[in-house]
Amino acid sequence: MKVRESGMPQEKMWRKFFDVERIFKVMGIDKKIENLVDFGCGYGIFTIPAAKIVKGKVYALDIEPKMIKETQRKAREHKLKNVKAILRDFMSDGTGLEDESVDYVILFNILIKDRPNKLLEEAYRILKPERRVGIIHWNYDPTTPRGPPMELRLKPEQSIELAVNSGFNHPMKYDLKPYHYGIVLTKDTGEK
Ligand SMILES: C[S@@+](CC[C@H](N)C(=O)[O-])C[C@H]1O[C@@H](n2cnc3c(N)ncnc32)[C@H](O)[C@@H]1O
Repeated sequence: MKVRESGMPQEKMWRKFFDVERIFKVMGIDKKIENLVDFGCGYGIFTIPAAKIVKGKVYALDIEPKMIKETQRKAREHKLKNVKAILRDFMSDGTGLEDESVDYVILFNILIKDRPNKLLEEAYRILKPERRVGIIHWNYDPTTPRGPPMELRLKPEQSIELAVNSGFNHPMKYDLKPYHYGIVLTKDTGEK
């Protein structure tokens, strides 16, 4: 089940909305990370730069065969062997990854009001303790050039509340001007 019809514009236009380097810096996506999972990788605009940074693998999941093919094509073009692009419906079937097996989950432009817990709970399950989930989304503002309809958009505080209800802690909120917000939370299980 698709989160929603993504209504993604052409890649050239989509890319213009994101300063990937700045987003990674703010969201703590760096070379200390081993394995990372990209839920709904789309064109792979975050997958490919992440694969160049992390020590281990990047699992890029998408329900659309053409998005998976495009992400695989880019991985080949960039000679990256650590991208595992997987055709999968994570709403119906989860990620298929082991419990507590990954270091960072990105939920970028994917979390909406329709069954968000499903994604957050799956992210929580696969993350190792003390590891993080990063959420970015369009601001709650009808003038953004793209983004889900307002009735489906989550305000930052709603995203935080949902993530906390799914078990995450220590929310950090960032303003990713001009159109997005970012939130990073930790799976703090209390075990150190
Ligand atoms: C708005 S796009 C965001 C893409 C990417 N995260 C980005 O920010 O550039 C959402 C993506 O999630 C994928 N998607 C939607 N529902 C899905 C599901 N149930 N399982 C896997 N992928 C899904 C869509 O095919 C689309 O590529």
